[in-house]
Amino acid sequence: MSEPRKILVTSALPYANGSIHLGHMVEYIQTDMWVRFQKMRGNQCYYVCADDTHGSAIMLLAEKRGITPEALIDGVWAEHSTDFADFMVEFDNYYSTHSPENRELSAEIYRRLREAGYIATRSVTQYFDPEKQMFLADRFIKGTCPECNAEDQYGDNCEKCGATYAPTELKNPRSAVSGATPVLRDSEHFFFRLTAFQQMLQQWTRSGTLQEPVANKLAEWLDSGLQDWDISRDAPYFGFEIPDAPGKYFYVWLDAPVGYMASFKNLCAKRPELDFDSFWKEGSEAELYHFIGKDIVNFHALFWPAMLEGAGYRKPTAVNVHGYLTVNGQKMSKSRGTFIKARTYLDHLSPEYLRYYYASKLGRGVDDLDMNLDDFVQKVNSDLVGKVVNIASRCAGFVHKGNGGRLVAENAAPELAAQFQAAAPSIAEAYEARDFARAMREIMALADRANAWIAECAPWSLARQEGQQAAVQAICATGINLFRQLVIFLKPVLPNLARDAEAFLNEPALEWAGHTKWLADHQLNPFKALMTRIEPAKVEAMVEASRESLAAAPAAPTGNGELAADPLAAEIDFDAFAAVDLRVAKILKAEAVEGADKLLRLTLDIGDEQRNVFSGIKSAYPDPSALEGRLTMMIANLKPRKMRFGVSEGMVLAAGPGGSEIYLLSPDSGAKPGQRIK
Ligand code: 2FM
Ligand code: ZN
Repeated sequence: MSEPRKILVTSALPYANGSIHLGHMVEYIQTDMWVRFQKMRGNQCYYVCADDTHGSAIMLLAEKRGITPEALIDGVWAEHSTDFADFMVEFDNYYSTHSPENRELSAEIYRRLREAGYIATRSVTQYFDPEKQMFLADRFIKGTCPECNAEDQYGDNCEKCGATYAPTELKNPRSAVSGATPVLRDSEHFFFRLTAFQQMLQQWTRSGTLQEPVANKLAEWLDSGLQDWDISRDAPYFGFEIPDAPGKYFYVWLDAPVGYMASFKNLCAKRPELDFDSFWKEGSEAELYHFIGKDIVNFHALFWPAMLEGAGYRKPTAVNVHGYLTVNGQKMSKSRGTFIKARTYLDHLSPEYLRYYYASKLGRGVDDLDMNLDDFVQKVNSDLVGKVVNIASRCAGFVHKGNGGRLVAENAAPELAAQFQAAAPSIAEAYEARDFARAMREIMALADRANAWIAECAPWSLARQEGQQAAVQAICATGINLFRQLVIFLKPVLPNLARDAEAFLNEPALEWAGHTKWLADHQLNPFKALMTRIEPAKVEAMVEASRESLAAAPAAPTGNGELAADPLAAEIDFDAFAAVDLRVAKILKAEAVEGADKLLRLTLDIGDEQRNVFSGIKSAYPDPSALEGRLTMMIANLKPRKMRFGVSEGMVLAAGPGGSEIYLLSPDSGAKPGQRIK
């Protein structure tokens, strides 16, 4: 037996100002499967992560909600932790970058960099919001594009024509925080001298640490010359103050990756057998892997290794980069209902369906992963229910009825069993290489063979024949053993299925090496259904709920680490406003919609006609009939939307954060149905 490897694994730290969505889950599920595989192999593998809690966006969101940033990040931490746990993403530690360990490590790294001469200071001229008394990051400045004159563009690029520019080039700039006209102001900033690491990075990025397309992309930047990196921000800022520099804070991206170390340090305090230095000191023999999305490669494959090297720590063994999630071939979209939050998914479907689907699509590359919802249903039902679980459900009944749940010792398919054994190294190799799609293909090919063999033996026919009882038992004991091996191979992907199968098989937690064992003369426990088929209606309901949650929670933060549109709402001109047909509507009928948790069906009188509108307000109006007879406001010229329950012909107006706090708007008494807003 070779020595167990010491492996530390991280996923990118999600921002603490938004919910986890299925796009995030690509990374966490991928990392978790890899970690579970390593643990099953007997390696000492640790998986740490944390919420990424600092920066202006979090500070402003907390302010808008009237709470402290600490209260905001505590609430989000609890939400994220539950979402991950419910998807069976099992961290050894899930921490926060706003922690004493991170404060200390960030300061220490900074001091070491400063002592080694890698920190420079320079005056920077930047837009400043005179009302809020704060410097404005590019995305908090809006104005007219200097290239195409499109209005309402962000400070760094134009969404209309794609131009990139400095915020000072924007025409008519204004602060997206207060609306004030920003002024230019100088301030001293601290820079990390990335340029000093050019050679090291040129070598490191080409040393097998990165997938080839990622290394090629970085080579373009490296060849065109690196620039020093601005690592400070002026107060007010939510983060860590820079040592010896009052009023100056570390830029969030400085202390975020240090958060990996800090989370591990916190884990070491809980597990005395773990030694921080043996994982992080220069020359450490432990392996260190970061799993990230392709949008944050420069932070992890340029700035981070340079910081580590400059401060005398080890560098990552590899940075594993993945692409984005698309749904039905397109970017996730709130209006299409494909921007699906982790919780919305969990409200409708089992996490293992998604884990398997992602595994079946994830290769080693950086391509985007498409979740086609029809394919999702079809693949999970056909592979997991139709192939894998089917083997156990076909065989278990005969063993229980015919032999009191005891597996006989005979192996009726030694050749097939040998093929299963022979496949194990290749499946393990695919997992190790993060080629989950290949691993799943190989496992399903084995499942196909097992099913074909059972179908050929047809124990259900033999069971009806005299004197065939022994043959039936031998076939079914073999089938159950083959099923057991498939469960071992799938365990990193399907931990719940494995747990339930272990209970049925009457076995302790299955390890990878356990695939060589054969259960002979072994007592089973009663069989319970291990997995049910995905009902397409549940997927439809999830999509509808994703559309609804948007209608019901207009002020929610987005899940992608950005502020929701509302605090930065784009101005519209009068013509755009006048194009909206806003009318007084009388609620004639209000009723719950079967199969939709959050929707009410409203029949509205708008003067000259009646409209049918679905609205996500049920949580605030548990007795919908109380709404009948009441006046409200509606948008009457909204394009009709086809929903699972019928066509929605407009939208009623409501305010509030969601849940029981949704308030339907009403005109003063005396207003008549159909009257328009003037
Ligand atoms: O892009 C993001 O969502 C960042 N919050 C990731 C940080 S990863 C690490 F460096 F901390
Ligand atoms: Zn433009």
